[in-house]
Amino acid sequence: MCNNMMMRININMSVLVSMGWLLLFLWVCSSSVTASVSYDDKAFIINGKRRILISGSIHYPRSTPEMWPDLIQKAKEGGLDVIQTYVFWNGHEPSPGQYYFEGRYDLVKFIKLVQQAGLYLHLRIGPYISMQKFTEKIVDLMKSEDLFESQGGPIIMSQIENEYAPIEWQIGAPGKAYTKWAAEMAVGLDTGVPWIMCKQEDVPDPIIDTCNGFYCEGFRPKKSHNPKMWTEAWTGWYTKFGGPIPQRPVEDLAFSVARFIQNNGSFINYYMYHGGTNFGRTAAGLFIATSYDYDAPIDEYGLQREPKWGHLRDLHKAIKLCELALVSTYPTVTWPGNNLEVHVFNSKSGCAAFLANYDTKSSATVTFQNMRYDLPPWSVSILPDCKHAVFNTARISSQSSQIKMVPVISGAFWESYIEETVSADDSDTVAMDGLWEQINVTRDASDYLWYLTDVNIQPDEGFLRNGQYPVLTIMSAGHALHVFINGELSGTVYGGLENPKLTFSDNVKLRAGINKLSLLSVAVGLPNVGLHFETWNTGVLGPIMLNGLNEGTRDLTKQTWSYKVGLKGEALNLHTLGGSSSVEWTQGSVLAQKQPLTWYKTTFNAPEGNDPLGLDMNTMGKGQIWINGESIGRHWPGYIARGNCGSCNYAGTFKDGKCQSNCGEASQRWYHVPRSWLKPSGNLLVVFEEWGGDPTGISLVGRTIERVCADIFDRQPTLKKWHMLATGKVDKLQPKAHLWCAPGQKISKIKFASYGLPQGTCGSFREGSCHAHKSYDALKRNCIGQQSCSVSVAPEVFGGDPCPDNMKKLSVEAICS
Ligand SMILES: *[C@@H]1O[C@H](CO)[C@@H](O)[C@H](O)[C@H]1NC(C)=O
Ligand SMILES: *[C@@H]1O[C@H](CO)[C@@H](O)[C@H](O)[C@H]1NC(C)=O
Repeated sequence: MCNNMMMRININMSVLVSMGWLLLFLWVCSSSVTASVSYDDKAFIINGKRRILISGSIHYPRSTPEMWPDLIQKAKEGGLDVIQTYVFWNGHEPSPGQYYFEGRYDLVKFIKLVQQAGLYLHLRIGPYISMQKFTEKIVDLMKSEDLFESQGGPIIMSQIENEYAPIEWQIGAPGKAYTKWAAEMAVGLDTGVPWIMCKQEDVPDPIIDTCNGFYCEGFRPKKSHNPKMWTEAWTGWYTKFGGPIPQRPVEDLAFSVARFIQNNGSFINYYMYHGGTNFGRTAAGLFIATSYDYDAPIDEYGLQREPKWGHLRDLHKAIKLCELALVSTYPTVTWPGNNLEVHVFNSKSGCAAFLANYDTKSSATVTFQNMRYDLPPWSVSILPDCKHAVFNTARISSQSSQIKMVPVISGAFWESYIEETVSADDSDTVAMDGLWEQINVTRDASDYLWYLTDVNIQPDEGFLRNGQYPVLTIMSAGHALHVFINGELSGTVYGGLENPKLTFSDNVKLRAGINKLSLLSVAVGLPNVGLHFETWNTGVLGPIMLNGLNEGTRDLTKQTWSYKVGLKGEALNLHTLGGSSSVEWTQGSVLAQKQPLTWYKTTFNAPEGNDPLGLDMNTMGKGQIWINGESIGRHWPGYIARGNCGSCNYAGTFKDGKCQSNCGEASQRWYHVPRSWLKPSGNLLVVFEEWGGDPTGISLVGRTIERVCADIFDRQPTLKKWHMLATGKVDKLQPKAHLWCAPGQKISKIKFASYGLPQGTCGSFREGSCHAHKSYDALKRNCIGQQSCSVSVAPEVFGGDPCPDNMKKLSVEAICS
């Protein structure tokens, strides 16, 4: 850039011979060398171009390298400029000084793919706790690969720390000092691009503070010259074992983004744009499910979630049409009525307007520059020329689709191996006084820790004659516990996300003499956020009481306990091809069923096609799954989702728990199997089941589109048409219904079509008081047998206007197969 300018300036110099020009040139060049990415309060400035940036989070370890190019491409087609990711310290430095950057952790490869797609990258390095060495390691790695924008790479900004202010607020002065230190340390690394800190109101200069939340329109950066950034616009929320599936309506998400942009916003990032999968035992926090789908625009399996993906793409196009006006001026705000607000960006570079209706129940009509605009409740219309409303956040014109999981392999031939129950006198146990914290003992090498002791019962105990067995009460810090007496399962208890602690309390069948008490304590994730979470305990910490003996109550807490980390099957690597041959498996009529602590294995051939794959685990309880030695994650379909799953209205302030589904069902039934982990034949599937389940009910399923729907008003112009109108190519605004099935599928049936006043939603449409009789004909003619089709939403297409005085719409449901 400076070289080009040098030539131009030289020519000018010969004419002007002006010292002023030379000074200007030196100033421009030196500032663009030190900061190819800069900003002001209205825009990011990248290599001289003022930008409003749309970003989305894709976490590289939550998918596979084989999925990355497609995810990035879908993000680009969805209108993103930037991909944002955390840097996963847990995966990159599994133990101090031991680094790993291969496979799903190949950060450099991921960033280079983003670069090849022509997108920018926002790198959230920010690990907490004595982090200087790791931050330097990552920055050096990025520099050595020329990945910062200042080096010609895609990284336009970085993050240090993460949502630290709530902790800082609790610990006071030392927290403040730490924030200052972290900021100085980061800035000292001289990356040539800006640093941000999220949720950190007291950021030291020159770090930019940013907002995370469901809404951020009211956020103001601490420094008035900083851009207004939203680093986490939550598209949904994470699923917890035991909880329903959280969803956020796209109408509300689009509304929140439009409000942010109309209030001076310059950068918005969707958290998540693709959520993906917590493979292995990496789930972020206690009781967090293996699926990290997040109701994101791209679903866990890598398919577009419609209409979320398409509606946001349309929003991004509308915002981009306003970009010149947005980066040039502040909005003028007026209030034409109750709950109505108009933002106008009027500058020499153009005029853009945002018309908002904040009422949660009523539509409204706004008159703006002598034109009338209809606004549904809780919505914003975007007018990139201050004349044409090309987009309204509550009117979806992209298609919606419904997904199905189709069994492709079921009824496999299974073999079983029962894990032995350990007891205190087994050779490979370690005896210690009292009860020990679980993670302190396991060092997270396994989810499992055995707590083992003997209970001596005298032959003269009363309960041996009257049959009133004593009550064993065990208090545990969590997260799940299986209680075995003399090798027999006595019961299972587990905590939940709100309270990981649990209590077992039940009569136990003890016999005279030595009884073997074996407690298998199971961790489900590590604490990951909160003040001093390193001190949060897991495991059986007591007290443990035996009640109803001749002596009254016996306290088992302080006696000698023996410990064993992990399972025998884990030590033998039963999940791998080599390890699985080290034990005798049983099969056929002696296949273990409904047996706790059982390993299962089978082999299968990869199904044809490209549909993403999953495992339907609904007949199983709790445990872990591996394919060809790769960990699919923890399964726990036995944990039934409890909560509120009522109806969901997009209008009104969204909060966690507002729109949930799946109550009364397994909180996670399906588990993603990446295609790239399969070979054509002989794939080894191993399941470890803690509770007891029926493996013959497990099936491999393909994820595919079942039906697609369109629901389009006849007066809402599509963006493409508006573009043509703006360039003078058409004189009439005409919306179109676009329908498309997955690659390899065709539209086989038009299940519903009505142009007029149809009612209902996708899957439950019905005709209303007005219906054009040729509605079906038009759709059948254009769509049957096609992978995709489009039909204009205009009266002549459907044999004339069935009710001329009404604003009509077209609703269509088509079956893909
Ligand atoms: C936009 O920013 C300007 C300058 O800081 C400020 O005066 C104005 O109130 C902001 N407008 C909105 C709608 O946030
Ligand atoms: C963890 O183990 C160490 C010894 O290895 C012990 O000193 C410490 O008290 C234990 N902490 C907890 C919380 O049990």
